[in-house]
Amino acid sequence: LSVTLLSLLLFSGCLKIDQNQSALDPKGPVASQQADAFYVTLYLTTFLWIVVGGAMLYAVWRYRLKKTDDPNEIPEQSHGHPIIEVGLILFSAACLVVVAVPTLQGILMTKSLPEEYQEGAITVDVTGYQWWWAFDYPEEGVTTANELVIPVGKAVKLNLRSADVIHSFWLPKLAGKVDLMPGQENFMWIQADEPGMYWGQCAEFCGDAHAYMLFRARAVPQEEYEAWLADLKDGPEVPVDAPEMPEEYSEQVVQGKKVFMQNCYSCHMVGGKGGVNGPNLTNFGSRATIAAGWMENNTENLFNWIKKPHEIKPGNYMWYGVPMKTPGGGIITMEGLKEADLSDEDIHAVVAYLQTLK
Ligand code: CUA
Repeated sequence: LSVTLLSLLLFSGCLKIDQNQSALDPKGPVASQQADAFYVTLYLTTFLWIVVGGAMLYAVWRYRLKKTDDPNEIPEQSHGHPIIEVGLILFSAACLVVVAVPTLQGILMTKSLPEEYQEGAITVDVTGYQWWWAFDYPEEGVTTANELVIPVGKAVKLNLRSADVIHSFWLPKLAGKVDLMPGQENFMWIQADEPGMYWGQCAEFCGDAHAYMLFRARAVPQEEYEAWLADLKDGPEVPVDAPEMPEEYSEQVVQGKKVFMQNCYSCHMVGGKGGVNGPNLTNFGSRATIAAGWMENNTENLFNWIKKPHEIKPGNYMWYGVPMKTPGGGIITMEGLKEADLSDEDIHAVVAYLQTLK
């Protein structure tokens, strides 16, 4: 009992401290349905726990050995009670039905997008990588990473894929988790009924940096969403392959772009061009977080991240390159650098350049 009370105390404490990733604070229809199913199950099982536990305690007390009893004498034996037994079987069946109804409703609701949510729904292809997220908007032809932007009050259909191992997409306030499997596409949908920044997390152990594989979903009003899309379609103000930066940019930004092109561009896409081994950085300057939702996007964090990413997020592939699979099933690891082979001045320049990508 003390363990139960203690864990209840700790549990309630956690909920008070951090509501960022609470599945018990649903902000959309899918999460609400799932929270309801949870509460029905919780209340029913709590009731059963009290009744069964109470009956057991009563029996222990009622049939205890009394001082007046003869310990050598066998007490009066009873051999069942058909009405109580049948009643308990029927009651158990009824309890299972009570739990099954919201569970089945939930399964039906999440396996495809229901009729009533289809108006204005958008589609996002989600790809899990070790250890970050790619978000492609196939209807719009744009890509972003680690920060999903969605319109408030509209359903978002998510096609989930993995580029390497099993990951799991979890946005606790919007929906329960669904796995991203290599070689298979899974489906889920979400809808945020309130604007805001929703915290997400990879919920399946996927290697060294699994705990740092976070993301965000930013739900914004329709007009803001459309403006964001238009910005993303336009790409950065100065295309990454433009021969020269316009004069109004500082020398530092010009230098930063040069360093970026020589060191980062082979893995990071900008404006639809560049490598795809790392997160797309097209609208990087407008994101709230870096390192797959792990840190706030500010100058100091960005500098430290580029300089020594492995001290911040152990095991990640920044500066190493992504391991490649051979046709025979082996793995080639590109032994690279542990930290940036760049001067602090060059890193500051890259930071300044990245901050212009809006
Ligand atoms: Cu991806 Cu854990």
